[in-house]
Amino acid sequence: MELKVERDSDVDNWKEVILVYNSALKQISTKLEILNDEFQHVHRYNPIEHIKSRIKTSESIVKKLKRNGYESTIENMIKYVNDIAGIRVICSFTSDIYEIAEMISNQRDIRVISVKDYIIRPKPSGYKSYHMLVTVPVYLSDRIVDTKVEIQIRTVAMDFWATLEHKIHYKFEGNAPGYIKAELVECARMVSDLDERMRLLNEEVQCLSHKK
Ligand code: GTP
Ligand code: MG
Repeated sequence: MELKVERDSDVDNWKEVILVYNSALKQISTKLEILNDEFQHVHRYNPIEHIKSRIKTSESIVKKLKRNGYESTIENMIKYVNDIAGIRVICSFTSDIYEIAEMISNQRDIRVISVKDYIIRPKPSGYKSYHMLVTVPVYLSDRIVDTKVEIQIRTVAMDFWATLEHKIHYKFEGNAPGYIKAELVECARMVSDLDERMRLLNEEVQCLSHKK
């Protein structure tokens, strides 16, 4: 399985497309870092624990196009694969997730294409996270390319769960035994409980320190 990049011009085109996606990732990362710095300045704490970003491999791009019944061309990948550029933002508290999402959405050069709130409506697996598909303009020498970036925002606890669930899913090729799936759903419930208790605890401490 390969993307159709046979001619020299295709190779050039492929390199340019990846360069554009990489630039879009850099732009969103910088925006998030600026917001985090400003938050530190105003509220004296950092809502973002860390940020991870990645470009989807050509193998995964081809797999996804195939799964959805599209021919593997650069045109199709730009049109139909929304998560070529992906960024994951890990926060401390659930409340931080919505603040960050709002701050990003309010930026003038960002266009929000879609939002999937798997925190309010978790997946049947138990998966929780806040997903946004946005475009950000990338300025090249001769044109501006509005480029799609998938932003996943989640707490440290949600990330811990999703990482293990992903490993298990991969190991069993999606067919994990029922009792393991059930245990994962139970763990997801505990993650939600923990997130809520930590959020309340933090609020309590904030109130106490304001009273001092
Ligand atoms: P993909 O084809 O996987 O990109 O899914 P989609 O286009 O339906 O979008 P969705 O928002 O549901 O999921 C996008 C991404 O969220 C995935 O690539 C994963 O990174 C993550 N994700 C979604 N569901 C799960 C899940 O049940 N477990 C884990 N660990 N991650 C998930
Ligand atoms: Mg994906």
